[in-house]
Amino acid sequence: MDWKVSEREETGDVLVLPLWKGKNKPANSALNGLPRSSVINTKSAFKSRFDGKTGSNLSVWGEKCRVVLVGMGDSEKSSNKVARDAGAKTLSSLSKKDGTNLTVRFTSGWNLDSMLWFIEGMMLRDYSFVKYRSKDRKEREEQGEWSLDIQASSRYLKELDAGITRIVGRVEGVHLARDLANEPPNYLYPMSYAERATEWAKDKPNVIVEVYDWDDLQDKGMYGLINVGKGSSRKPCMVLFTLNPNANSKERSPCIVGKGITFDTGGISLKPGASMDEMKYDMHGAATVFGLMHALYATGHKGRVKAIACLAENMPSAEAYRPGDVIPTYSEKTIEVLNTDAEGRNVLADGLWKSGEFDPSYIIDLATLTGAVVVALGHEASGLWSNNSELLEKVHQAGNKEDEIAWKMPLLPAFEKEMTGSKIADVRNLGKSRWGGANTAAAFLKQFVPNRNFDEEGEQIPWAHLDIAGTAWGATTNAMVGHGATGIHVRTLHTLITNSD
Ligand code: BES
Ligand code: MN
Ligand code: ZN
Repeated sequence: MDWKVSEREETGDVLVLPLWKGKNKPANSALNGLPRSSVINTKSAFKSRFDGKTGSNLSVWGEKCRVVLVGMGDSEKSSNKVARDAGAKTLSSLSKKDGTNLTVRFTSGWNLDSMLWFIEGMMLRDYSFVKYRSKDRKEREEQGEWSLDIQASSRYLKELDAGITRIVGRVEGVHLARDLANEPPNYLYPMSYAERATEWAKDKPNVIVEVYDWDDLQDKGMYGLINVGKGSSRKPCMVLFTLNPNANSKERSPCIVGKGITFDTGGISLKPGASMDEMKYDMHGAATVFGLMHALYATGHKGRVKAIACLAENMPSAEAYRPGDVIPTYSEKTIEVLNTDAEGRNVLADGLWKSGEFDPSYIIDLATLTGAVVVALGHEASGLWSNNSELLEKVHQAGNKEDEIAWKMPLLPAFEKEMTGSKIADVRNLGKSRWGGANTAAAFLKQFVPNRNFDEEGEQIPWAHLDIAGTAWGATTNAMVGHGATGIHVRTLHTLITNSD
């Protein structure tokens, strides 16, 4: 989407006028640049039909320009969600057939934040995965991108320009995460993710991407990844990102870890057939990690940030790991495998332990980890667990700010006891019953969060776990997304990381 900011003078093919309830008497400047007939029609629409209630949209067709009145509801009840959703819904209601020059004109009742939220909603919603749809792809090429003219009172223009520049970088990151997660599993597999990451880093002097391939994983003893991935002809790997490696070397920096199962059949503990295709999204944690690194890069973040993607394809085969196996891990703790479909935690065990080597300020992992979290929270919120109440609160607040809800869940000692109660290994990869499955999974992960400096007597590094199984795709209530992957928590973590230094 091309964009610029300007004063309320000219209009494009379509003029979007988002108006708060009760503020719907158009200021004179609202209709600047329209032909006389359009001004008359729009004014009469205001009088007879339009009341500014939420969702009450009205199109006024004119000879040169179509005017779209968007009802924003009560300005006192405004929130980031109201403004973002309105922007997203407005964009999705427009068709490029009416022309691609779009003017969005903000008038009375709008402040800087709500203007930015509205535009962010529009930009987030401007996405579809048409790569493999010949007709749609051709149509997109012919029609071109939207060109957006954002208009407001002159006193806002400078801040709007800076704010939107930042938004564009974040939206690029979200869309990149969606692209990766939407990609079919025959195209996106562990080493193809690694190639994309390497390619992305190539022309960026302040970015390093390192790949541990099959041989490296063996050398390092990363048997969590090896065991989950060895049943597939597409071998597993670990991708390590560093943004700004030379920044403030004395200060600690965050490390973000993503589950990247490029396809999850369940392995020998095979999943049922229904909706198995959706398990291509089982690498959304790793997709978010990549998208986040891009968003941070594109918005010029100066601090150092580390990220790790744990990539494997979980397949049944003669080479596959099996229920009953005991596997070593990078941490040297052993796992009793009771179900090969609980594979995400096995690969994350290696990623979490690895992150301790960077002495990070905190670790956050993202994973489409359990069906149980979808039972608990539906598609409305990710599950959030942490060993540190301050970090827990910070992630929760960042999620609220971005309307990517991260709901606090319990990390109880009883769950840890359940997962460390194996008779023949250090940790079991399955709870003793199916109850509380998202909590036992989190308790499993905690066993692989290192103490500072790997000191046995020391304190565990602050860590938070986001189970995104319900939010990575499938929410019909998410106005930012038409179909498919959501790009969840790129914005949450971007806000968390950029606001804390
Ligand atoms: N990737 C799945 C979790 C999942 C299921 C995500 C449905 C999104 C929708 C994960 O690897 C898995 O299979 N988890 C098992 C764990 C169980 C065997 C303890 C599950 O949730 O059933
Ligand atoms: Mn699984
Ligand atoms: Zn999985």
